[in-house]
Formats: sequence, C-alpha cells, structure tokens
Amino acid sequence: MAAIQRCAQSTLNWDHFETEGLLLLQMHPAILPQVTIVGLAIILAWYFDTFDFGFFKFTSKEKGDPVDELLKKKHQVVGKECIPGKDTCFLIVDSYFLENGRLTTKRDLLLEENTEYSLTGVEVESVKPVSWNNLDSRNWPVNKLVINSRYARLLVASGFIMNSLNFDESDHQDVLIAGLGGGVMSNFFSQISYLNIDTTVVEKEEFIINIAENYFDHFETDEMRIINTDFVDYLRKYDKKYDVIIVDACENKKTNVMCPVSETLKIKTVQLLKKRLTLNGILAVNVFVTQDNIKSEKEIFELFSNEFNSCFYLEYFKNKNVLLCSKRDNWTWKKQKTEFSKNVEIVDDMFEFKLSRFLH
Ligand SMILES: *[C@@H]1O[C@H](CO)[C@@H](O)[C@H](O)[C@H]1NC(C)=O
Repeated sequence: MAAIQRCAQSTLNWDHFETEGLLLLQMHPAILPQVTIVGLAIILAWYFDTFDFGFFKFTSKEKGDPVDELLKKKHQVVGKECIPGKDTCFLIVDSYFLENGRLTTKRDLLLEENTEYSLTGVEVESVKPVSWNNLDSRNWPVNKLVINSRYARLLVASGFIMNSLNFDESDHQDVLIAGLGGGVMSNFFSQISYLNIDTTVVEKEEFIINIAENYFDHFETDEMRIINTDFVDYLRKYDKKYDVIIVDACENKKTNVMCPVSETLKIKTVQLLKKRLTLNGILAVNVFVTQDNIKSEKEIFELFSNEFNSCFYLEYFKNKNVLLCSKRDNWTWKKQKTEFSKNVEIVDDMFEFKLSRFLH
C-alpha cells in the first residue's frame, strides 16, 4: 500500500525559544548536513503529522481579536516537566491554526532534546467562545475523541481491521497498552466504552502518568486503568489474555530505535506477548527508527515473525510503519486485503479516522 508523501521542503528547528517561553519556528537549513536526507524526511513526516503547517495561511481579522492573537503566536509552551534526577525534559506545546475557518488547537508532548519528535498529539478546545478572559489554552479541555497522529489512529484501529475487536456492544473485549505517553489511545478507548472495551495501560514512569493527568486529561474510569509498573514484568506476572496488545513504548533518549524500547526486542518478551493474546488477538507495535532504518526494521520484523504465525508492516508514511502480528495463519494485509480494507472503511465511518485514504 502507498503512504501519502508529504512535502518536506523546509527544515524546522524547535530549539529556539523566546524569553517568555514562546516557541519560535525558524528555518535552519544549516542543520541539514547533520542528518541523512532519509532520516530527515521521516522526522518531518512524523512532525507534520501533528503540526499541519498547511493551515497557517490565515487572513488576519480586525485588530485586537483574541483568536488572532493565538494564530499570530502559533505556538505556546504550556508546560515543561523534567524527570527527577535525570536530565530528560519534556515540553508540552500548544499550536494554533485555522481549520475550515475555525480555530484549532493541538497539544503535543515533545522531548526537549528532540523536539521534532512528538510523543503524543491531541486536540484541545475552548469550551466557550475564545475571549481575552479565557485565552490561556492551558486550561482548555482535551477532546478525547480526536486522535491527530496517523500512527495512533492505526494502532487503535488495528484490532478492528484484523477482526480482533468488533463493534458488538454485548461483546466484552480487552485491550492492553504498553506505554502511556499523553494517553491519547487509552483516552479514546475510554470514550468509546459503549463498545464494552476494557483497557489497561501499563506505564513504568510515574512521571509520565502525572503529565498525562495534568496536561492530557487522562484519568482512570471503570473501564480504563493505569498500572504503574514495568511492562515486561506485568506480562510475566499476569496471565490474563487480551484481544489487542498495543506496544507504544518509546525511549526517552534519542537513539537509533526510538520505539519500541529495547526490552521489548527480546525473544522472551515476544514469546510472552504472544502468550498473552487471545486466539484471534493481535499485537500492534509502533516501530520508529531514526537511523539505519531498513536494517533495524528488518531485524525487528524477523524477531516477531519467528514467533508469530503472521506479521506484516503497515506503512502510514513513507518508511514509517506499524508492525502487526497474529497467531492466525495468513493473517496479513496481502492475504486478507478484501476483508481488511472493508474493515478500514467501517472504522473510518465509526471514528472518522480517514485511514482508507492511504491504506489501499
Ligand atoms: C495460507 O496460505 C497458503 C498459501 O497461500 C495456503 O497453502 C495455506 O493453506 C493457508 N493456510 C491457511 C490456514 O489458510
């Protein structure tokens, strides 16, 4: 299948801040030689997934309009949180732009040392019309039904696409998510609890859980809980089976393989993952490699396909993949194209994910 190619003509550098903490976007062609063109394209694709600069061409309204003020600002750092005792910091950044003539605000969780890379993207909305009194988007609620990034949509949709989850309200279904981030996927599953989907998120860093609560409105519900422990330990200790296991666990440091974390890439872990799946369950892994991508991606693929009956990469941007594995034979896009494509359309109808545009 073909991924939509985005134009990646400019290099954007996020490392420049104004004194008040405003994020400036500057063109810095000079950093080009530091990265390979391929690496850059991947990073930009990732980046553009959550920051759609196509909408920045707004026509300015009368002076003093609060919405105008935000659009002019473009970005605002609404928070900075550092892991205690480590020199890893995260920025929470709100971006403002017009979409169909309406102010749209996106919030991203970025690693400070690598701001092209967004760990999570959500949409926040002002409850009342924007005025000078409620201009601070820090206080606006997250719209949990909107998932901006394509990879997160795909991870959420994968169970439905591959017949591991269904839209039958009377059918109890279990989802396990490794890695919380801003909680965009678990928030989404908690919002569609009418489908009787029970979600468990395992997150090692308490610090991340706090960020998800404070900036991404991520709170436990009766059908969604957070477990503060190491994911591999959790798999070892609890023998509950899941219809879908989503692995979205990424490194906090810039490395060649950003996601999944290295402890996932061990035979023992892969075997455990398989064990914890129901008969028709699937495993969906966010794979994000920054360098040497072809080789690492191939190795990751081999590792998983040696244990599972079927594995395949689903490409959502050029050279950007989600890995999907199942215990079922021939359960790949190639072999089940008719069935899976039909399911993609159902998912798009239900969740407005617009996945059929690039999965075909
Ligand atoms: C999987 O596909 C192969 C070749 O297309 C076929 O021979 C085999 O019977 C299939 N397995 C199942 C379980 O459908």
